[in-house]
Amino acid sequence: SQRRPLIAGNWKMNCLRTDGLALARGLSDRAKAKGDLACDILVCPPATLISDVAGVTNGGAVMVGGQDCHVAVSGAHTGDIAAPMLADIGASHVLVGHSERRADHCESSTVIRQKTMAAHDAGLIAVVCVGETEQERDLGATLAVVNGQIAVSVPDDATPENTVIAYEPVWAIGTGRTASVDEVAEVHAAIRAELTARFDDGDKFRILYGGSVKPSNAAELLAVPDVDGALVGGASLKVDDFWQIIESCA
Ligand code: G3H
Repeated sequence: SQRRPLIAGNWKMNCLRTDGLALARGLSDRAKAKGDLACDILVCPPATLISDVAGVTNGGAVMVGGQDCHVAVSGAHTGDIAAPMLADIGASHVLVGHSERRADHCESSTVIRQKTMAAHDAGLIAVVCVGETEQERDLGATLAVVNGQIAVSVPDDATPENTVIAYEPVWAIGTGRTASVDEVAEVHAAIRAELTARFDDGDKFRILYGGSVKPSNAAELLAVPDVDGALVGGASLKVDDFWQIIESCA
C-alpha cells in the first residue's frame, strides 16, 4: 500500500526499569542490525520509563510514545501529564482514547478530541483509539459506534502526518480473541470511508488494528486492505514476539 505500516507496542502498566530497558534495548538492537525495515516501530512504555527508553532508542529505528496526555499544557491537575512534558522527554507519539482510558477514566470522545489537539499542539503524533464493546457488536451497532467515535474524537486539525487511527474491538483486547479478517476488513473500510469523506487526504491516514495481535495472526491481519499496522499489547512485552510481528510486515 501507499501507507508505510506502523507497528506500535502498548506496554500498558507493565515493566519496572530493568525489564523495560532490556526490552527497549533488545528492540533497538534488532532494528539497527536489520537496517532496512518494512515498517515504523513505536513503543509506548509507562510514563515512568519514557525518558529512559528514549535514551536507548533515540537515533535508532524505534520511536517512543506516551499512553495518555492531559488536555491542558500545565496547571493544577494532580497526577496528570501534559503533552509538552511527553515531548520534552523524547516522546514523538501519544496514545489517546484507549478503551482502558475510556472505561477506567470515563473519557468521552469529546475529551479525546481535546487531548488529540493538545498532542498536536505539542508536536506529537496522536494515535486515536476507537472500538466497540462486545454488547455493541452483538446489537449490530459496531459501525455506528466506531464512526461516531471517529467523528467526535478526530479533530479538524488532524492530518495523516499528525494522526494515526487505531481500531481495537474492546472484546478482543487481552482476551486472546481476535476479530476475524472479515470483521477487521469491514470496520477498517468504514473508517477509511469516514476519513476520506471528511479529509482531502483521508486515504493517507494510517489505520492500525489492535486486539490480541500475536506472531501467529499478525501476517493475515496486516494483509487486510486498509490495515496499516498493529497496536499490540501483551505480545509487545516479549521482544521475540514483538519482533516477529514487526517482521510480518510485507
Ligand atoms: O493497545 C493495545 C491493545 O489494547 C491490545 O492489547 O494485544 O493485549 O490484546 P492486547
